[in-house]
Amino acid sequence: MNTKIPQTLHVDAFEMRTADIADVELSQLQALSISVGWPHRAPDWQHARDVGHGFVALDEIGRISASTMWFPHGDQFATFGMLITAPRLQANGAARWLMERVLADCSGRHIRLNSTREARRLYVSFGFRPQRTIFQCQGEAVAPPATAAIADGLTLRRLDRADIEAVIALDTPAFGAERRVHLIRLLESSICYGLYDGDRLLAYSMRRRFGRGHVIGPIVASCDADAIVVTRPHIVAHVGSFLRIDLRFETGDFANFVQQSGMSVYDTVKTMVTSEAASYGESDGGRPIVYGLASQSFG
Ligand SMILES: CC(C)(COP(=O)(O)OP(=O)(O)OC[C@H]1O[C@@H](n2cnc3c(N)ncnc32)[C@H](O)[C@@H]1OP(=O)(O)O)[C@@H](O)C(=O)NCCC(=O)NCCS
Repeated sequence: MNTKIPQTLHVDAFEMRTADIADVELSQLQALSISVGWPHRAPDWQHARDVGHGFVALDEIGRISASTMWFPHGDQFATFGMLITAPRLQANGAARWLMERVLADCSGRHIRLNSTREARRLYVSFGFRPQRTIFQCQGEAVAPPATAAIADGLTLRRLDRADIEAVIALDTPAFGAERRVHLIRLLESSICYGLYDGDRLLAYSMRRRFGRGHVIGPIVASCDADAIVVTRPHIVAHVGSFLRIDLRFETGDFANFVQQSGMSVYDTVKTMVTSEAASYGESDGGRPIVYGLASQSFG
């Protein structure tokens, strides 16, 4: 532990101390995220704890006042998220204090996160640089528009655990790091589709319960047409119910398809990185890219 970071923080009239996020009640974490209008259910917090680490700030009577988490992907890269300070205690330095703790824990790693407007200045002060905007699209799904038939020779099918190595191989250059543990955990709790050309996976997508309904993500493909093919079955299965996709593109055939399927832009966040090495893979005409995020925290 970095001994220069104070072990306690005076906030308002309280003295706050940190605790491991693994040791607190899920219901308390859920209450914290509800206090800032986030939709996470207890199982969504549990999923985050299954694949990540973090701290909470506790006041003198054990109430959670703030949280932050980080998610390792191999030993050189991490994503950040779940940074929340309860509204009554905001602007007292709690988030900065927790960030110092968590950055000390992941020193030496390249880090990527998706920042809300409120948090941007804080992250800039820690050296994070803004990249692409993420479009949080959500709404009641409607029947998706008609699209071209799947090309001859390609197969769209449900994926299962036996497909994990193909998913990892496709995902790693797109995500920018291997996220094996996350993909296995996501696959366990998701319905997944993949587009195969023989035994080569061209695109995949996952859908799981999250927040107010279901989220479709990750979505990884090399072109908009393939991203549409693997996303369409999820939408068809959820017409009339709440769906969300965190999109990395606001324009193009895939973004139009998402909008026409009932999900419009609800909010935006900004991807920020500590170094270029923490960037998502970008398309150079044929490489797979991330179209939809697993979540804003996981990336
Ligand atoms: C973003 C958030 C975590 C900041 O928590 P906090 O405990 O109030 O932050 P701190 O008091 O440590 O302040 C850190 C810096 O952010 C700035 N800041 C805090 N709230 C801000 C806001 N609403 N708008 C702009 N800047 C803000 C502070 O001025 C401070 O900068 P300074 O040290 O240069 O003055 C809190 O507003 C929050 O929970 N928001 C809702 C959830 C959210 O957006 N989380 C971020 C996810 S990426």
